[in-house]
Amino acid sequence: MGNTTETTNQIKVKWRCPSNIAIVKYWGKKGIQIPCNSSLSLTLSNSYTEVEATLHEKTTLESVELNYYFEGELNEKFGKRVADYLADNIEVFPYLRMGAVTIHSSNSFPHSAGIASSASAFGAIALAMLDIAYQLEEKELDDDFYRRASEMARLGSGSACRSIFPSYALWGQNDAIEDASDDYAVEVTQIHPIFKDMRDAILIIEDEPKKVSSTIGHSLMNDHPFAAQRFTQANKRTAELVDILAEGDVDSFIHICESEALTLHAMMMTSTDYYLLVKPGTITAIEKIMQFRLENMVPVCFTLDAGPNVHILYPDKYQEAVEDFINDELKDIYKKVIFDHEGQGPQKLSI
Ligand code: DP6
Repeated sequence: MGNTTETTNQIKVKWRCPSNIAIVKYWGKKGIQIPCNSSLSLTLSNSYTEVEATLHEKTTLESVELNYYFEGELNEKFGKRVADYLADNIEVFPYLRMGAVTIHSSNSFPHSAGIASSASAFGAIALAMLDIAYQLEEKELDDDFYRRASEMARLGSGSACRSIFPSYALWGQNDAIEDASDDYAVEVTQIHPIFKDMRDAILIIEDEPKKVSSTIGHSLMNDHPFAAQRFTQANKRTAELVDILAEGDVDSFIHICESEALTLHAMMMTSTDYYLLVKPGTITAIEKIMQFRLENMVPVCFTLDAGPNVHILYPDKYQEAVEDFINDELKDIYKKVIFDHEGQGPQKLSI
């Protein structure tokens, strides 16, 4: 194999996996990482994690022996989460019974950027670890490999399963969409040209760690007073968005995208243990984006993940107009801006 280093008992692989931004949000889960509603996201390009995984001889009696390095330094906290994940899925990675793994992970975006990194990290980890399993079984990296990698990524972090596919990916069972599954994501392939190479400018409003983790946020949906309506709404919107993407209906895209962002945060604000993640800068940016759209007839909109940072989405052909607006009118609001765009999915790298 051209891009794999193999000695008698050592296999080394390297994968790059991008992050993604949800248009319809996954918020609420049950059982073993089963989403309470379907979601649909845009896969990014410049925001990614690279993982180099090496299988080698064990030096301890640990059931799973993992050395996890992040940006060159041993990271015991995240390493423990990854080791637990590997132990829970040992039947998929049976080589861990006999061998140890060293993972070197790094992100393209600054650590303090406030970008959710678990999607790209677990995407890359799942791809690398499954690639090793496939090599040992002498199997091809075919469509089934990516489907299984998506399933394994989901078990690490729900949103990670969507990062395995290019452009637009959908995750979660949906009565209106035949091949949708709770287990893995699928690519949404019917995309109108206006939504191709969609741009995402990520405004970093705040770069401190979140007060409330996504894990806690998801759990607050368990006894949320509006949970049932929310899950029904998200499923309906996911199905609508599939048609909107195929038809090129930009106005409906904007409507769903912005309402989803506000609904996600409304869920946080209305849960029994309520909390707030938006900051004054988030609100100012949102208002300016809406005003700019209205005054200039430019189809640009915002979305949010579980934090204060603002993602600005716009079709490729409006790149110049929107970037001028961001640089001129939003510059006092953000600490940093990362210009990203639709990506082609994960990549196996040579070592
Ligand atoms: C708001 O995938 O980070 O970004 O499954 O607990 O790892 P875990 O949660 P995570 O949740 C992401 C939530 C979101 C919306 C989304 O990406 O769909």
